[in-house]
Amino acid sequence: MSAEPEGHRSVSSHLSSLPLKTMFKPADRMSGIKKSATRLLFDLAPAGSINLGLGEPDFVVPEVVRREAVRVIEGEHNGYTANSGIAPLKEKIAAYHSEGLASPISTRSVCVTNGAEEAIFAVMMSILNPGDEALLPDPCYLAYQPIAEMAGAPQKYYKLRAANRFQLDRESFAGAVSERTKLVILNSPSNPTSCSLSRDDLRFIAGRLAGTDIYVMADEIYREFYFDEPPASISEFYDKTIIVSGLSKSASMTGWRIGWAVGPEDPIRHVTVMHQYISSCASAITQKAAVAAFSDEGRQATAAMRVQLKQRRDVMTGAIDRELGLPYVAGDGAYYVMLDVSRYGLSEDVSMKLLESRVITVPGGAFGSEGEGFLRLSYCFEPALIEQGIKRIAQGLRGSSES
Ligand SMILES: Cc1ncc(COP(=O)(O)O)c(C=O)c1O
Repeated sequence: MSAEPEGHRSVSSHLSSLPLKTMFKPADRMSGIKKSATRLLFDLAPAGSINLGLGEPDFVVPEVVRREAVRVIEGEHNGYTANSGIAPLKEKIAAYHSEGLASPISTRSVCVTNGAEEAIFAVMMSILNPGDEALLPDPCYLAYQPIAEMAGAPQKYYKLRAANRFQLDRESFAGAVSERTKLVILNSPSNPTSCSLSRDDLRFIAGRLAGTDIYVMADEIYREFYFDEPPASISEFYDKTIIVSGLSKSASMTGWRIGWAVGPEDPIRHVTVMHQYISSCASAITQKAAVAAFSDEGRQATAAMRVQLKQRRDVMTGAIDRELGLPYVAGDGAYYVMLDVSRYGLSEDVSMKLLESRVITVPGGAFGSEGEGFLRLSYCFEPALIEQGIKRIAQGLRGSSES
């Protein structure tokens, strides 16, 4: 065993003589920030449960991407990359988000991150000061609220009304924008509702924000999963837009951790500085392999996933009609169904009860007040599992009394 250097030994002996602190006191910004409700439910589920709660596609990663990953692991060094990402990937991302825009996006407008989640964090933290208002959808993805909270930004909500099949309530949006609003978050297609914002609604939002300094963070991670028309992007109508997206869903690459933020150069420069101090850069291997996801072969693989998801949506809605006969909203994208279980009580209680029938669902109330009364069910799994999961829900609800 090598001897401990002199200086090192004196530091460790000094530390061991300090009084023991038993209570860890986290930073104030962490107060009230908890593990998400979905994780808690997963932890409680009995063995053999069918997980309709997970938001992760089960598709095999496109072969062209896997082949490229193996090639770069075996043949290249793969050290740190530029903080904002490798040029060939940024070129692909810029070209992809330029489709449908009047003027093309430059690579200086792109910052590649470790998944869309890091992009969301870096964008929100780079824009929001304590006291600035962040305007969020209700219901919405579980990460936005805690990050706004960590930034010290009060949250206001605009409604995606359950009573109107989770469509934008324009009055609620217009009324929620204030002098203090600094950032508006859009998520289309949405997690949890699977509904997209219509072109008209996006025009309305752009009109309401015109002439202000408000930025929009448009989370478009589900953009490739649509069933009729491709969803429109607010970036077509509003310049101060930062899109966050990635390949977690469209190439089934959740564990590869690849995402990005794309927007005007000024804010992206700051997002890149934030990203530098979070993680330096996204994995070199993943970045290089990710270029292949934009090839014809990669995009065909995404198109094939889209076709399968549409079939799976029909499997799930067919099973709900047959086994449950309950109302639901299936949306026009992503891979979630919002099942109306309001007659059985609070969504969290219903979800907990269903664990006894070994099926995991996510209570809609976790996503906001408009989600209450619903369960979010994912259908990004094999049809047989979807069918069996719905049967277990039917069995569980038969044992529950209507309230
Ligand atoms: C709306 C939304 N945004 C962002 C993410 C995070 O994506 P990533 O895995 O790329 O970090 C998710 C993941 O479920 C999501 O649903």
